Amino acid sequence: MQKIVILTGAGISAESGLGTFRDEGGLWSQHRIEDVATPEGFARDPALVQGFYNARRAQAVDARPNPAHEALARLQRDWPGEVVIVTQNVDDLHEKGGARDVLHMHGTLAGALCGACGHRWSAPAEMAVGETCPECNAPRARPDVVWFGEMPYHMDEIFAHLQEATLFAAIGTSGQVYPAAAFVEEAVGAHRVELNLEPSAAVSRFDETRFGPASRTVPDWVEEVLARG
Ligand code: APR
Repeated sequence: MQKIVILTGAGISAESGLGTFRDEGGLWSQHRIEDVATPEGFARDPALVQGFYNARRAQAVDARPNPAHEALARLQRDWPGEVVIVTQNVDDLHEKGGARDVLHMHGTLAGALCGACGHRWSAPAEMAVGETCPECNAPRARPDVVWFGEMPYHMDEIFAHLQEATLFAAIGTSGQVYPAAAFVEEAVGAHRVELNLEPSAAVSRFDETRFGPASRTVPDWVEEVLARG
């Protein structure tokens, strides 16, 4: 039975009102990556970093899933084989849209991590500078998101899924950040589809591309996949 592996990026959440990173006016035009998305930036100015993630966490709490998130959940429910959703996004819109077992390779805004003992718990709405760990009490709480220079989560599991994929789709990602941008190369036995607003940096590695807003292209694609069987 066909195994479908899907990689999503910020573009799938754009129509839910959550900013992307590299589009016009995106998050990386408002903040320097080295200031808000690296361990060094956090050490240098924890208030700036906690404030950046507190704002994104508050936005994500109020955001609603769009038809693209809901279509992927339907694919997971109705497809007779396995459908694995890997996301670079730290929002929970896939889960709000009904998806299950989503692999958040860059962590989640809803998670907190202790920089001292590695304990994980549900993040408070607002994480303060010097917030203490409920396990070891060290004032080392940080967002459980993967910063540049850190190892993404679930990589062994993701590579194993990619080896087995017969259909691979990348949705709403610019294909500029590794290792996610190389997943299309790992899916050696798969038919590879890119669904994006515009060609990504990796577009030439795909067998098929569909351009347009995810809230339209993803439901259409899911209906076709389900109808084809
Ligand atoms: N529908 C489909 N695609 C869209 C839409 C939309 N409505 N709006 C934007 N896009 C596309 C853009 O064309 C772009 O190719 O989504 C992509 C977003 O790219 P990025 O902003 O680079 O986001 P992403 O690829 O997820 O970034 C990867 O980089 O900064 C790190 O950790 C961060 O997880 C992030 C990673």
